[in-house]
Amino acid sequence: MMNKPQRFLTGITTTGTPHLGNYVGSIRPSVAASKGVGAESFYFLADYHALIKCGEPERIQRSTLEIAASWLAAGLDPERVTFYRQSDIPEIPELTWLLTCVTGKGVLNRAHAYKASVDKNEAAGNDPDADVTAGLFMYPVLMGADILMFKAHKVPVGRDQIQHIEMTRDMAKGFNHLYGDHLVLPEALIEESVALLPGLDGRKMSKSYDNTIPLFSSRTELKKLIAGIVTDSREPGQAKQVEGSALFQIYQAFASEPETTALRQAYVDGIAWGDAKNLLFERIDQDIAPMREHYQALINDPAKIETLLLAGADKARAFATPLMRELRVAVGLRKLAAPASAQTKQKTVKTVLPTFKQYRDADGQFYFKLLASDGRLLLQSLGFVAPREAALAIASLQQRGDEALTALAGQLQAVDGVSSEEVAAALQQWAEASA
Ligand code: TRP
Repeated sequence: MMNKPQRFLTGITTTGTPHLGNYVGSIRPSVAASKGVGAESFYFLADYHALIKCGEPERIQRSTLEIAASWLAAGLDPERVTFYRQSDIPEIPELTWLLTCVTGKGVLNRAHAYKASVDKNEAAGNDPDADVTAGLFMYPVLMGADILMFKAHKVPVGRDQIQHIEMTRDMAKGFNHLYGDHLVLPEALIEESVALLPGLDGRKMSKSYDNTIPLFSSRTELKKLIAGIVTDSREPGQAKQVEGSALFQIYQAFASEPETTALRQAYVDGIAWGDAKNLLFERIDQDIAPMREHYQALINDPAKIETLLLAGADKARAFATPLMRELRVAVGLRKLAAPASAQTKQKTVKTVLPTFKQYRDADGQFYFKLLASDGRLLLQSLGFVAPREAALAIASLQQRGDEALTALAGQLQAVDGVSSEEVAAALQQWAEASA
């Protein structure tokens, strides 16, 4: 097989103004990655996702402009990268629906963000779904469509998003199992070396803690904010500790190794906090100042950004439109005149694997069985009312092996003379083949 380039894709929710934490944790590494050879990058403004959290139209629009300007000012090259706005791609909500139909409601019940809202309601003695929108509930499916639409291999995200990527893999597996091999299973890419940047108060820099330093504040504003970073009460001349020093950690995120070593020594030597803050201010400004002008110019020319984003959407739709056409045919949303056989893509079956056979019995219910590669019966299901349920059960056995065996125990029947180890081993083969 040819070595295809790795495709990276990530989305940025358009609800706020980018801060230094976003820059260090996401913008800077993503822009750098997009310059690597063999990388194919898709970066987009997740404005449909923003609607889930924010009901202020002006803020969505302003944030979209600020985030786009920030990424461009930070060096993102829209010629090399496919940079677009989610809501310019109508195929994404369309794919969202197809995926909705292969996603278990129970799976979405377990999504962290939704569960956190429910838990909070329950703790307060409210109705579990009080103030919970279906948008929040569906968040992972929309995100799955973002990723699967472009057959992304690697998705750089924060740790809190890992569960969404796992769900996306399951959606792809479920879809492929029912309709053939159309979607690519993505992997989360967690940037381990990027520690979370602390904010003004020492906690993680985050809008929700109101402790951020905007990426493109003016020099004066930047200086003022940095002066407000928490320190301890050690006097000038007294040795200071780098452990737990927010100031030191922020400095480290911008400085070179020798610069960091020098500040470490200055701490030991008792640098005054005021001087350390000045050092930090100048170091950050050295990186940001050249981008600041570019940022202002972009913010003042929204029409230019609009044009860039629309060009990005054209590039993105060159992938999305044909894939969506293929998926529509796959699921049966077809022209009535052409024969079904001419429109479907054959599923590829690996003959060496044990096989699942799905069938309908005389009682009208849907069943499946697992046969060893030599044809022996290994596992027999009980009846399912709908074929889709049987198919989803098969998919979860193929993907999660043992774990699914336990979860589906009530739907399965052991076969005389076949040990559970033998069944587990057969499922293991499947898990490996689909990994
Ligand atoms: N949910 C992501 C976040 O909050 C944003 C996002 C939306 C995303 N769609 C995506 C990230 C697709 C990666 C891929 O950070």
